[in-house]
Amino acid sequence: MSEHTIQSKQTGHNDEVNIMTTAAEVSEFGQTNDEKRSRAAIDRVRGLMDPRLLAAADRLAAVNGRYVPITRDKPLLGHLKALVASVTAPPTGKPDKRRILAVVGKSGAGKTTALAEHIARIPEMQAYRDEDGIWIHPTIFIEAPSPCTPRLLAIAGLEALGHAPPDRIRENEAWLLFRRLLKVHKVMFVVIDECQNAIETASVRQATVIGDAFKHLTQMSDWPVRLILAGVPPLASFLARKQLYNRRTVIPFDSLDTAGNQGLLSEVLRIVIEDHANLEMAEGLDDEDFRSRLLHAVDAEFGSGLQMIRAAVERAVLADRRSVTKDDFKAVYASFSGCKPTMNVFDAPDWAELNPATALLRAEDRAWEEERKRTKGKEATIRSVRPQ
Ligand SMILES: Nc1ncnc2c1ncn2[C@@H]1O[C@H](COP(=O)(O)OP(=O)(O)OP(=O)(O)O)[C@@H](O)[C@H]1O
Ligand SMILES: [Mg+2]
Repeated sequence: MSEHTIQSKQTGHNDEVNIMTTAAEVSEFGQTNDEKRSRAAIDRVRGLMDPRLLAAADRLAAVNGRYVPITRDKPLLGHLKALVASVTAPPTGKPDKRRILAVVGKSGAGKTTALAEHIARIPEMQAYRDEDGIWIHPTIFIEAPSPCTPRLLAIAGLEALGHAPPDRIRENEAWLLFRRLLKVHKVMFVVIDECQNAIETASVRQATVIGDAFKHLTQMSDWPVRLILAGVPPLASFLARKQLYNRRTVIPFDSLDTAGNQGLLSEVLRIVIEDHANLEMAEGLDDEDFRSRLLHAVDAEFGSGLQMIRAAVERAVLADRRSVTKDDFKAVYASFSGCKPTMNVFDAPDWAELNPATALLRAEDRAWEEERKRTKGKEATIRSVRPQ
């Protein structure tokens, strides 16, 4: 388990933030028509809202929009920059660790947020007008569909390029077309989020097809493409296969640990409540018992912890209070988990024994799970018993 600390300075980006767009139609300033439409609809709602509520909503949006960099951000940015720089090297068939970058961690770790934050600030990855005046989007974002097959993944890629492939397109045709269109659209960086969907349930053949596809994408002789992947384990295990392991760098987003990350958590609580929200921390929020409960409540994931702190802030702001209290956390946990009042991690004496992930389950759910385990026998896995 690694010890994380807050990064006191932003990680070396230029101040100017570039907003990413997809390959949709773009106006003069790179704003898509979709963005304009949704802006207008939101403005209409704003115009009708009670000004006091609107001010609270704006204050909360500002808090929620803040990024909190920690130690792991620096290597992530360093690797992203190395991956970008690697496109300038003449193409060779030789493996290179900078062709595929993967961020791997459990749900709620903060993978998607960290990638979006850093990618949005790397100038080489932003939209630009080429010499013919055409808007080019060198970075595309794909979410691996669920359920996923190699064919569906390629189709998701084609759709991200704004292309509607024929219904019956075959797996190999879809990958071929995807590779060709990346070149046509001058896309160099392909981000695939939720990448585990593509491999979790893949057969041996499908896993090989995806491994080959990743390899081919990143070693085209006439067009450099780099892959940025994010996903929960078993993504790292998939990337350890021989086909890919010389071509990839994995950045683990580890869970926090109760003993080693007290300092980090204390700092994050202070930053979000005091610096971002301009509120006070009520008594009890700065003690170890509280922090340990908070970590337990969010399954020790950094991003989920931030989400819970912000939800507690929201409660205080909406109630027009100056300070965030333990009761705010208790109420937030109750609503997130749906737990019974006696089983709230923030005040149950036996909190360490409670399982936040299953707090919502009631006797009938547990009976169903038991029955399912019995009928599935040796086949029973967490997933088959408790579908995600
Ligand atoms: N460094 C950060 N600063 C501010 N907020 C963060 C940070 N990291 C994560 N968050 C917040 O934590 C929440 C969860 O993060 P995110 O969705 O990025 O996790 P994830 O690892 O991609 O999870 P999943 O595997 O479920 O997609 C988001 O609401 C996000 O706003
Ligand atoms: Mg994510």
